[in-house]
Amino acid sequence: MVASQGSRVVLITGASSGIGRACAELLSERGYIVYGTSRQPLAEAPKGWRWLALDVTRDDSVQRAVDAVLAAEGRIDVVVNNAGYALAGALEDTSIEEAKQQLDTNLLGAMRVCKAVLPSMRERRSGLFIHISSLGGEVGLPFQGLYSASKFALEGLTESLRQEVAPFGIQATLVQPGDVRTRITDNRVQAGQSGPGSAYRAHFETALRTIEADERSGVPPEDVARRVLELLESGSVRVRYSVGKLAQRAAVMAKWVLPSRTFESIVMSLYGLSRN
Ligand SMILES: NC(=O)c1ccc[n+]([C@@H]2O[C@H](COP(=O)([O-])OP(=O)(O)OC[C@H]3O[C@@H](n4cnc5c(N)ncnc54)[C@H](OP(=O)(O)O)[C@@H]3O)[C@@H](O)[C@H]2O)c1
Repeated sequence: MVASQGSRVVLITGASSGIGRACAELLSERGYIVYGTSRQPLAEAPKGWRWLALDVTRDDSVQRAVDAVLAAEGRIDVVVNNAGYALAGALEDTSIEEAKQQLDTNLLGAMRVCKAVLPSMRERRSGLFIHISSLGGEVGLPFQGLYSASKFALEGLTESLRQEVAPFGIQATLVQPGDVRTRITDNRVQAGQSGPGSAYRAHFETALRTIEADERSGVPPEDVARRVLELLESGSVRVRYSVGKLAQRAAVMAKWVLPSRTFESIVMSLYGLSRN
């Protein structure tokens, strides 16, 4: 079967919960042909969209899923690179292996999907990549260094990609959510060395309480899905779009306006940290 001209085919990674799932539900309701993916099968059958197994850390898994969509629909018009998780812990408490896993999922996962989809998009001279970054991709946050690093890197990768693929009629953009109420909080991985023996323990626990409280009181994932839908429906996309509470989006702007040490002190105080 090949997709009808009118309905665009969308591939979403990390669609088993949170932002990815909200995107899959909204886009399928709006008539898009949606393939949502995750590592484990869903507990209940998805309504209106198709589920496929895809682990973004495995080349073979990514290629299999992309091939399956291309075989069924003949094309992939839009990719929402969304799969990710948050690693928390002081840099000193984070092992190189933990850091590699964070980057492998949040950064190289998106790269693998791009590489698998790009040949067919280039051939058709059309396509759109929407990369779910974070406001943490603009501001380095304490005890989220590797998470922030993965999102800063995704931002750089996407800025470069835009320029490389524009001659082929392909676009790429970044969506930067602030705090969103999803399973990211429960799925957070804490660096193995951040336990009771850590020199950072007290500061880490204080900061983590703030991080978790902010996420649990964040905007619903449907807000991000609506922004993704707007991007799908606009003819051309800018480099980045933020979504979330105004105060959080304004904080990012403050980074560019305030003296850097002043800005840093404000961020530190929000996480219960102060200079010696
Ligand atoms: N929530 C927030 O406050 C927030 C803020 C800014 C940015 N974001 C970003 O939004 C994206 C989605 O997160 P979320 O908040 O919706 O969290 P979530 O509810 O935990 O969802 C994460 C999704 O990623 C999938 N995933 C994780 N590792 C994967 C892998 N190796 N291969 C394939 N899928 C994988 C999970 O599926 P399985 O585990 O079932 O495979 C799940 O569907 C992430 O990139 C996150 O960094 C979230």
